[in-house]
Amino acid sequence: MSNLATKILPNVENVKKEANNIKHWYRKATVRTTDRIIVPSLNSDEYIFPPSRQPLVSHPMVINKGKETISYILAQSAYRYMYEIGLLETRFVIDCSLNIVNNVIEGFSDVTKREALAIVIDEGYHAYVALDFIMQMKEQNAIQPLEVPQTNGNLDAVRHAYQVLSSEIHHHFQLLSVTLAEHTLTKDLLAIGEEKSATETFNQVMTDHVADEGRHASFFMTATTNYWVKLPDVVKDEIGQFLPAYIDEYLKGDEERDFDRKVLLASGFTDAETQQILDDTAEVYLGKMNAYIEKTTLQLVECVEKMGLLNHEKTKQAFIAHGHNV
Ligand SMILES: [Fe+2]
Ligand SMILES: [Fe+2]
Repeated sequence: MSNLATKILPNVENVKKEANNIKHWYRKATVRTTDRIIVPSLNSDEYIFPPSRQPLVSHPMVINKGKETISYILAQSAYRYMYEIGLLETRFVIDCSLNIVNNVIEGFSDVTKREALAIVIDEGYHAYVALDFIMQMKEQNAIQPLEVPQTNGNLDAVRHAYQVLSSEIHHHFQLLSVTLAEHTLTKDLLAIGEEKSATETFNQVMTDHVADEGRHASFFMTATTNYWVKLPDVVKDEIGQFLPAYIDEYLKGDEERDFDRKVLLASGFTDAETQQILDDTAEVYLGKMNAYIEKTTLQLVECVEKMGLLNHEKTKQAFIAHGHNV
């Protein structure tokens, strides 16, 4: 149950809502309700990762090289996707939720802390499912991950934010950045889970995950809404000035396509062939990337607005100066 609700609802309603939230978690949280996901062999006819999310596999030179090459490239994309889920959950969302529980991010009620602990459990389970998926792929498919990512665009953007912002406001910013990430993730998982071309197994992982993320996204939005109003103006000034550029950096795509290049080289293409495939698929790749950035930026600005951040005039002005129509 949210702090905002605590303020506006009569007591008896609070108790009811709180009881509903608890019931909902016990009945619906995937950690409590789902069976283990069994990953199919790459030799099956199903794709382990949606080909529509990896334009390399529709290139004629890749298709000509055979089914094994397509499987290899999709397996590498699936590995990367699952590793990144694990990173975000364990290094970012769980850390922030524990900071709410342990008063590093101050001022939350026991009810909110209990919900934050539910999120710690959910996210721990999501990371568990992702690692289990990776381990089963390794065991069953004889394709090993080309690399184990230690960071991603989101974590890099937060690290950079901590270098720019004063250290005493890092935890304020952590709550906000996790809220934005949870908002994005919910929509991303929905979109990727609807790709019909992937295996049922992959879609199942996405569908299970998103079932929890809607609840998380609204929890963090409520938490940030209540938290922001209590921040001193000087803190709002600093965060507000920085936020529009942070959103750009957080959503920045891999324009250099380092990952795609490495995967093509590891698939046995020469340097020249790799470059040709990258050049030929650049338009589709960049088109998808830019469409995603544009759509998600709008969603995040809307989220920022809904949470009341733009009621602070300097923050609103910073968004306007950045070209946003708010
Ligand atoms: Fe999650
Ligand atoms: Fe989450």
